[in-house]
Amino acid sequence: MSSVAIEIKNLSKTYRKKSSSKEALKSINLEIKKGSFFGLLGPNGAGKSTIINILAGLVNKTSGEVKIAGIDIEKNPQAAKFKIGIVPQELILDPFFNVRETLEIYAGYYGIKKSQRRTDEIIEALGLQDKAKAAPRSLSGGMRRRLLVAKALVHNPEILVLDEPTAGVDVELRNQLWTYVKKLNADGTTILLTTHYLEEAEELCDEIAVINHGQVIAHDRKENLMKLLSSKELIISFVGEVRPDFITALPQLETKLLAVDKISITYDPEKIQVEKILRIISDSKMQIRDIMSQQPDLEEIFKHLIKSHLLPKNSSKNSSFV
Ligand SMILES: Nc1ncnc2c1ncn2[C@@H]1O[C@H](COP(=O)(O)OP(=O)(O)O)[C@@H](O)[C@H]1O
Ligand SMILES: [Mg+2]
Repeated sequence: MSSVAIEIKNLSKTYRKKSSSKEALKSINLEIKKGSFFGLLGPNGAGKSTIINILAGLVNKTSGEVKIAGIDIEKNPQAAKFKIGIVPQELILDPFFNVRETLEIYAGYYGIKKSQRRTDEIIEALGLQDKAKAAPRSLSGGMRRRLLVAKALVHNPEILVLDEPTAGVDVELRNQLWTYVKKLNADGTTILLTTHYLEEAEELCDEIAVINHGQVIAHDRKENLMKLLSSKELIISFVGEVRPDFITALPQLETKLLAVDKISITYDPEKIQVEKILRIISDSKMQIRDIMSQQPDLEEIFKHLIKSHLLPKNSSKNSSFV
């Protein structure tokens, strides 16, 4: 038995329309180990849903190879579908069937015999008991999301894929959802989660791939990646212009001139202390007007990663950057 749940090799996708085409995935390579809680992190438009929709068989790849539990999705799409449950980003449900009927019909699609169905168990696990007879259109966004998760589980898949499941979901529901998904993972289900929330990936995942503009820009164990992503940013305004010699005095730091009198300095708190930076400033005799410290947002981090395409020297040797 292979230890790989999802194997993606040189996966590319170009959406073609009459007048335009969009290269959404550019030769993606990813290996998701069995039993892992894998986070696919990236800003809107990065290509996350395109990957998920290819796994689900909803979008045709342009080139490359995808295997689910060792099964090639092109050679054997039906068998691959049995191994995976997908919770799509869009809250689309059939309006004609209530919650219980929806789950029964899906179990039917998968050819699961009535005696082997787990409809009640799943309804209970997702806290949908009170809504079992409710029509999907009467459900709140959070409840619809639960039903989509329930639907993805009717055939007891080895792999559960959740595409931005917490968008528009309230905190309580989110916590319940995570408790349940963590339990599934502890019981052996491989989880693939896409999100654009760094904190979410940090809290849940053991391995994270960062994608942007259809490319994997980082892939590592969470601990290593978080170290990289924990950089901080100082924004300093001076009385008067920033002197060029000051910038060259900060060789290990990433500096960006925001205005003639304003500079941004990105630094790794594990490598250099803020006091040291302030000392260099004070040595330069430039007068500080205002200083602000912040964690760079994800967008900044993505830009940084793309620009560097390299790991800082103190990061793990196992890290793979593309
Ligand atoms: N059906 C489609 N037709 C044309 N372009 C699309 C289609 N679906 C997605 N795209 C484009 O492909 C890129 C990746 O989209 P998507 O995979 O949805 O990203 P994400 O899920 O990371 O937000 C975006 O630029 C998006 O506009
Ligand atoms: Mg998406």
